[in-house]
Amino acid sequence: MGASADTLRDRLASRKARAGIVGLGYVGLPLAVELAKAGFHVTGIDLDPRKVQHINDGQSYIPDVPTKDVQALHAKGLLDATTDFAIVRELDTINICVPTPLRKTKDPDMSYIVSAVEGIAKHLHPGMLIVLESTTYPGTTDEVVQPMLEATGLKAGVDFFLAFSPERVDPGNPNFQTHNVPKVVGGVTPACAELAKALYGTAIQTIVPVSSTRVAEMVKLLENTFRAVNIGLVNELALMCDRMNIDVWEVVDAAATKPFGFMAFYPGPGLGGHCIPIDPFYLSWKAKQTGFDPRFIELAGHINAGMPHYVVDKVSEALNTRRKAINGSKILVAGVAYKREIDDMRESPALDVMGLLLARGAEVSYADPYVPVVHGREWSGGYDINRVEMTRGRIGQYDAVVIVTDHKVFDYAALLKEADVIVDTRNAIKGSHPNVFKLGAPRAAEGLKASIA
Ligand SMILES: NC(=O)c1ccc[n+]([C@@H]2O[C@H](COP(=O)([O-])OP(=O)(O)OC[C@H]3O[C@@H](n4cnc5c(N)ncnc54)[C@H](O)[C@@H]3O)[C@@H](O)[C@H]2O)c1
Repeated sequence: MGASADTLRDRLASRKARAGIVGLGYVGLPLAVELAKAGFHVTGIDLDPRKVQHINDGQSYIPDVPTKDVQALHAKGLLDATTDFAIVRELDTINICVPTPLRKTKDPDMSYIVSAVEGIAKHLHPGMLIVLESTTYPGTTDEVVQPMLEATGLKAGVDFFLAFSPERVDPGNPNFQTHNVPKVVGGVTPACAELAKALYGTAIQTIVPVSSTRVAEMVKLLENTFRAVNIGLVNELALMCDRMNIDVWEVVDAAATKPFGFMAFYPGPGLGGHCIPIDPFYLSWKAKQTGFDPRFIELAGHINAGMPHYVVDKVSEALNTRRKAINGSKILVAGVAYKREIDDMRESPALDVMGLLLARGAEVSYADPYVPVVHGREWSGGYDINRVEMTRGRIGQYDAVVIVTDHKVFDYAALLKEADVIVDTRNAIKGSHPNVFKLGAPRAAEGLKASIA
């Protein structure tokens, strides 16, 4: 390694290096906290002044990051934040954790990465390490980020160091968090990889070096495409089971007893979150540029995107047993976050389910202890909806309840007792009951008799 690499390695070992995180969201804030816990002075850079203010007030806004950690690290002078990229002049390392959404056309939206790298490039100085963490297509680091940074006249691998390391955080998972999920790292040059490994090694238990940034980028896309395709497969199985009067949940649980060669995936109302519905399309977009047709990704996307429509068909089937239509019915959506125990609404299938119900004339309400308001811009209804409480004595007023997210805190016993009909998209209510219409499962026989009577 050259002199600037040696200097940075020493500064990392002694914790004299100053670390920066660009983008203090679900990925960036937990990483900032881990690096600060490892002894670095960490400064977050975010365009959102509210997030910056929260950090500088010693407060967390990410459920997985306790406020007491932010408070303690801020009080020790190890964690602060700014909206001003000028701070880059004082930093030795930067991890970029900005969003990578899709455009409406399902093409990658690189504008956040580009704007973050522009902000960094203005103040880039010799001896810095820049690591991109945002999920993106293979080639982003060396085709997009490297030329932008090298336009300053500094050279990657010589004057500054550049790597890609995908973030694998699983929000709401109590067992695996930033510090104990192995971190894959690929550098533009071996020196870049070595320094990125040295940075992460201070805060994360296991580092997995790979030979290039492109491999590291592809690793993340394989992981998320694997999930999207397997969820697509099990969703298709649920649609099949529905036709064949077989309980898909029982099938998956029994198959999961096989001690090898099977991994359980469960059906649901559709994909949600910032990763699984989006990342595979980053890969298919790039693959298509080489003339390759990525069929599994497209097929899984097609099946998964159809699930909210199937949920609405189930609601229609359930109401039909009461001689009611969706049009004019009062429907309560139980759970709107994209998965249980979190507050994240991004790409949540509940938004599609609510939009489709509304388009068919339903009066839609929702209950979710984690989401106080669904903003008008988030769903096709176009107006803000405030949540209602799903407490005992108040459930019977709805014509149907649709469980979209199976939060543990919901009182399922009360729901079962009081709701006229329930559409359960998550198998949240075990067993079969006359008033429960499960995704991918037959209805209890007595229910059929009751509705015919
Ligand atoms: N959330 C997850 O579970 C998860 C898991 C693994 C990987 N990822 C990936 O990590 C990346 C970040 O995701 P996230 O969930 O943390 O997003 P997020 O929206 O929670 O946070 C991103 C932050 O970046 C800030 N930002 C946007 N543009 C900026 C800019 N130019 N300069 C400074 N700040 C800027 C935003 O204000 C926001 O606070 C994405 O690529 C995502 O795919 C997310």
